[in-house]
Amino acid sequence: MKKVLPWETFKNILKDKNILIGVTGGIAIYKVLSLVSSLVKEGANLKIIMTPDSQKFVSKMTFTSVGNCEVFTDPFEFEASIPHTTLSSWADVLVIAPATANTIAKIANGFADNLLTMTVLAFQKKKILVPAMNTRMYENPATLENIEKLRKLGWIILEPEEGRLACGDIGKGRYPENEKVLEVIKDCFIEREKVDNLPAIVTAGPTLEWIDTVRYISNPSSGKMGFAIAKELAKRGFEVSLISGPTHLTPYENLKEFVSIETADEMYREVLKRFEKTSLLVMTAAVADFKPAVRQTHKLKKENLEELSIKLVKNPDILKEISKIKKEQIVVGFAAESEDLLKNAKKKLEEKKLDLIVANDISRKDIGFSSDYNEVKFIYSNGKVEEIERSSKEYIAYVIGNKLVDIFNAKL
Ligand code: C5P
Repeated sequence: MKKVLPWETFKNILKDKNILIGVTGGIAIYKVLSLVSSLVKEGANLKIIMTPDSQKFVSKMTFTSVGNCEVFTDPFEFEASIPHTTLSSWADVLVIAPATANTIAKIANGFADNLLTMTVLAFQKKKILVPAMNTRMYENPATLENIEKLRKLGWIILEPEEGRLACGDIGKGRYPENEKVLEVIKDCFIEREKVDNLPAIVTAGPTLEWIDTVRYISNPSSGKMGFAIAKELAKRGFEVSLISGPTHLTPYENLKEFVSIETADEMYREVLKRFEKTSLLVMTAAVADFKPAVRQTHKLKKENLEELSIKLVKNPDILKEISKIKKEQIVVGFAAESEDLLKNAKKKLEEKKLDLIVANDISRKDIGFSSDYNEVKFIYSNGKVEEIERSSKEYIAYVIGNKLVDIFNAKL
């Protein structure tokens, strides 16, 4: 069983970590300045190596100022020290961003012809590559083969994104969002115990219950908690089907599937389709309890109407229905309560035959629904209660992920 990192450590995971950034000569270099700036804000200790060509795009001085750190360019500028060996043993993580086809080719073949390639050859800890280049250069079989070779050699590769490139071409080769790069760097310091490809269903977001063709009943669920759980479980080896109502979020790219739904009935159908074969169901979605009895097929007119009553009927309680067919699956529910949090959550746990219920207090404005933060209690089927202090939804997802992996590993 892996001990979970405390929130204070998780929140400051890059503080005082030694990170070496290798910068090569691609136009995406200007985006790396912003990555460096974020790393400084996270409290990391930085050192930067620039290849000779990269200095034709951005000066050494710019990186020194933004990174507030030493920038190295020349293996022969130091008389008394050997920079590539000292730099490679100093760093906890090495990130090459942007990584050009040329540098990728060199490191895939063990070249050591500049300070960066020399340092890479001597580096033995976690290494991250962020390729960014013109689509045709990226899709050249030689480049793809070199990247594949580096992946097999243990490099963490961030796939470039598709879109409009600096040269005007459209295709794969764009430097990814720095937020993603930062997350991959942080993940190097977060050890996660894993399962072996177990299927999991996660539901997220609100549901929409249509009144007519343009109006619906819904709730302000942002989907953040469910999306964070889906991502966390995918990082821990689950094959995740994320079934979600409408949100503004982008699902994590390494999910097995993303299923977009609107109504509670649709969500129920999609969960049911997959439930028999799943190992885990996490119902994070804020499913509407009621829906209009009739969905009008035209827009309701306000003329001649002083009042309008809409008859509502009950939606299926997905978890309750699931409890009737549940076998070995682990089922986790959420309870959003405004009063008697523990009492109500325990009642739900029993009624819906849950293994774990995650309860939060929705009467508070600083946590829950649309917030990035939450404060929850875990209530287990054996009566045990655990409190998680106010923390980010990512952290809560990380703690839930850790618990679930423990449960599965104990079962095997
Ligand atoms: O009973 P209550 O709706 O508060 O329970 C919340 C839990 O039940 C959540 O996990 C939610 O996703 C799930 N739920 C459901 N079907 C509904 C309403 C809520 O499965 N119709």
